[in-house]
Amino acid sequence: MNPPIVLSSTYVSQGPPPAGDFMYTRAGTETWVPFERALADLEGAAQPALVFSSGMAAIAAAMSLVPHGGRLVVPRHAYQVALMFAADLADRDAVEVVHVDIADTAAVIAALTAPPAAGSRPASLLWIESPTNPMLEVADVPALVEAAHALGIPVAVDNTFATPLVQRPLAWGADVVVHSVTKYLAGHSDVVLGAIVVDDAALHTRFHTYRTLHGSIAGPWEVWLALRGLRTLALRVERAQASAAELARRLATHPQVAEVRHPSLPGDPGHERATRLMAGFGSIIGLRPIGGAEAADALVAALRLWVPATSLGGVESSLERRRRFATEAPTVPEDLLRLSVGIENVEDLWADLSRALSTLQVRSQDGSEVR
Ligand SMILES: Cc1ncc(COP(=O)(O)O)c(C=O)c1O
Repeated sequence: MNPPIVLSSTYVSQGPPPAGDFMYTRAGTETWVPFERALADLEGAAQPALVFSSGMAAIAAAMSLVPHGGRLVVPRHAYQVALMFAADLADRDAVEVVHVDIADTAAVIAALTAPPAAGSRPASLLWIESPTNPMLEVADVPALVEAAHALGIPVAVDNTFATPLVQRPLAWGADVVVHSVTKYLAGHSDVVLGAIVVDDAALHTRFHTYRTLHGSIAGPWEVWLALRGLRTLALRVERAQASAAELARRLATHPQVAEVRHPSLPGDPGHERATRLMAGFGSIIGLRPIGGAEAADALVAALRLWVPATSLGGVESSLERRRRFATEAPTVPEDLLRLSVGIENVEDLWADLSRALSTLQVRSQDGSEVR
């Protein structure tokens, strides 16, 4: 029922390396194979997935598609370390990075076609996150892929937030899908792992070679745990999405709440597109309590069941104020809390949230605490 965990770093071999056989674990080990096949099946990919040591290692590999002097178009809101990596490429390798509102299809296409500076080249890669971290903007991925391909520009999609159960970017023609397996795919906050998924055999070889040369490989335990997590992905995602939609609906009318972002809400800017393109709305909620960053911090501190922590996509509900990181995009509101809804009983989650929100209410009635 369960594949073995093979800990050997090397395999018995002599003479010229026979094609396809395992020889040395940096290049490949059978422990990766079941997970890589399962993730490829989930994404509907023609090639096996490639596991990497983390989501960031997979992102670094995917961004290596941008040649020296090339242009990389990225969402202005996306996983902050991915944007920091792009900025680092710009600093060190003279890659030009252009930030766009990924929900504004016309603006993205304009950024692909019209180089902002004289002498700059057409874009070399379009980077998409949808929904975005942490603003939950929803991109029109098929329209963007079509426009980019018409210009000969490859497209990479970070599918971490949606998971392949909610959207499959390869089916829309995207060239590369990346995952932080750390999040929903592994699902238990006990593994750091990444993956790349592609359809094209030449791209698969390229990323396989990249992984071997950079040594950005996964440990056997991590991949085994991720495969175990994957078995319950559908159950976890189904439960967490249903709870997130219910919590977002209740939060939307709560007197201590200034704004709720979740694509399930009819008034959410991403609602129409998510309804049209996605098979669900995901289980991340953006929440801005009345009272600014101070109230947001007070809410985090007042919660008992929700865990104050970074990361997301685990079975445990967690939350954090994203601007606690100085590196988060300055256009992310100071008071935005990113809630990752887990699989606990939704009434327990609501009881904790509404109780913690009511402590803010008491403070505001007292006076000075709330801005
Ligand atoms: C959307 C997204 N992509 C990628 C990453 C990076 O993954 P990892 O932490 O596994 O390196 C994260 C981590 O938070 C993320 O939220």
